[in-house]
Amino acid sequence: MDTLSIQLDKNCSVPMYMQIANSIEKLIDKNELSIGDKLPPIRKLATKLDVNNVTIVNAYKHLEVNDYVTAVKGSGYYIKDKKFKKIVPSDTTKEYFSSIQNDDYDYEYENIKLMTSGQIEISENAINFASATPDPSIFPVDIFKSALNEVLDRDKGFAFGYQESNGYEPLREALSDYLLRSNSIKVPSDFIQIVSGAQQGIDIIGKCLLNPGDYVITENPTYSGAVSVFKSRDAQIVGVPMLQDGIDTDILEENVKKYHPKLVYLMTKFQNPTTISYSEEKLYKILKMADKYNFYIVEDDSLAGLSFSNLSMNTTLKSLDTNDRVIYVKSFSKLLMPGLRIGFVTCPEIIVDKFMMAKHTTDISSSGLIQRALHIYFEKGQWENHLSYMKNIYKSKYDAMVYELNKLEKYGITFFKPQGGLNFWLTLPKELDATKLYLECAKKDVLLVPGKIFYTSKCDNMNKTIRISFAGTNVDEIKAGVAIINDIASKLINKTTKKTYLTPMI
Ligand SMILES: Cc1ncc(COP(=O)(O)O)c(C=O)c1O
Repeated sequence: MDTLSIQLDKNCSVPMYMQIANSIEKLIDKNELSIGDKLPPIRKLATKLDVNNVTIVNAYKHLEVNDYVTAVKGSGYYIKDKKFKKIVPSDTTKEYFSSIQNDDYDYEYENIKLMTSGQIEISENAINFASATPDPSIFPVDIFKSALNEVLDRDKGFAFGYQESNGYEPLREALSDYLLRSNSIKVPSDFIQIVSGAQQGIDIIGKCLLNPGDYVITENPTYSGAVSVFKSRDAQIVGVPMLQDGIDTDILEENVKKYHPKLVYLMTKFQNPTTISYSEEKLYKILKMADKYNFYIVEDDSLAGLSFSNLSMNTTLKSLDTNDRVIYVKSFSKLLMPGLRIGFVTCPEIIVDKFMMAKHTTDISSSGLIQRALHIYFEKGQWENHLSYMKNIYKSKYDAMVYELNKLEKYGITFFKPQGGLNFWLTLPKELDATKLYLECAKKDVLLVPGKIFYTSKCDNMNKTIRISFAGTNVDEIKAGVAIINDIASKLINKTTKKTYLTPMI
């Protein structure tokens, strides 16, 4: 369909894009547009109606959100069958997009939608600071291949049978042993539950413990994958700001008293996204609070192990937990390979059976083959070898990042120097807006994540933060990528601070 018959009233108080969307809705309702019909190209309709392209984009997006049309990437918008279930974007996404009304709306909408769903489309040449996923070229493929072969030679068809829901016993024992050696965490193997990634672990915790209306306190900003889980259980999320040594415990206590949360979700090492690590004093304070006010703590320790500091970074809430208050969640995605889809959770005794039953109803068990291979990997000390190999590789990227990012300080772009992990958290000066910077960088094939997507609720500086990760980049890309950010920041700042002078008319 090349064009549509739409009448606009430019004097009407209803915004133009709504008038267009309403007219198209009426055409659909009257069957003048049918399922599968393509809407006119944005530019063509904009010219015909004498409006901006952005107005048409907003009208089409409105129709998409209300399930009248579907967008097909690279092709256009098509009329949808209304009988399909309505899919409404999450609150964070909605809130985020309601704050944007500019020429870049369409481009940004598509990209951030992918980002909030955990995926982002990138071009082949892009420098990807957006994803904290490790570079596949450093995955220990050959070593893992021999572990898999060893399992197959040894266990034959048993490797492909159903595994116990709580996980392969020898792997749980190896993990119990490892936790004690590396973090002084004493958890018998019976209280270790294997899961298909930390995300599944958090999801099952939500399933086991949360009822609609329960309160969960998180850091603000926080890992959006966890927030999505808690929201899916109809829990109420309360975000508490971060300080340089961890969550603000005064505000945490106020909120604990006010809301009586069932869970408090924290990342105590290299927090995602702020990169902050908790002081030991704070860890003790939080554990005390958990006892006093009777809540459980979910400690997501996904990046621990990747420390570049000389300080000992091995103390966790779990290692100090004497009263079984902490549910410790660990992923192998960032430090080993995300595609293994393996992680584990240590459960307080009181919920261990409940957790196992919930795991069973989720997917019966995580892959027995992968668990067995991972067990061999641990037994042969390859996990520890790999960790020190990864640390070496990442340390040089981390150093390059610190060196390059320091060059942005002249614009007032500051960052918190993390003790480890794979991310940097930038704070922008008042002249720079994170969305604008993100968009301009994306146009030059440099991908960042606007900090906004990590916040649980609106706060003053949310558009002044950016997360950049060095996990999937090399040192040359870091240099080139930060140079592009430098260039764009300089242009954007010059634009906003450009002065105007009055010239005498003689
Ligand atoms: C803090 C945090 N927790 C959990 C996960 C999910 O990890 P997994 O791949 O093990 O499910 C991620 C992934 O990015 C993460 O950043």
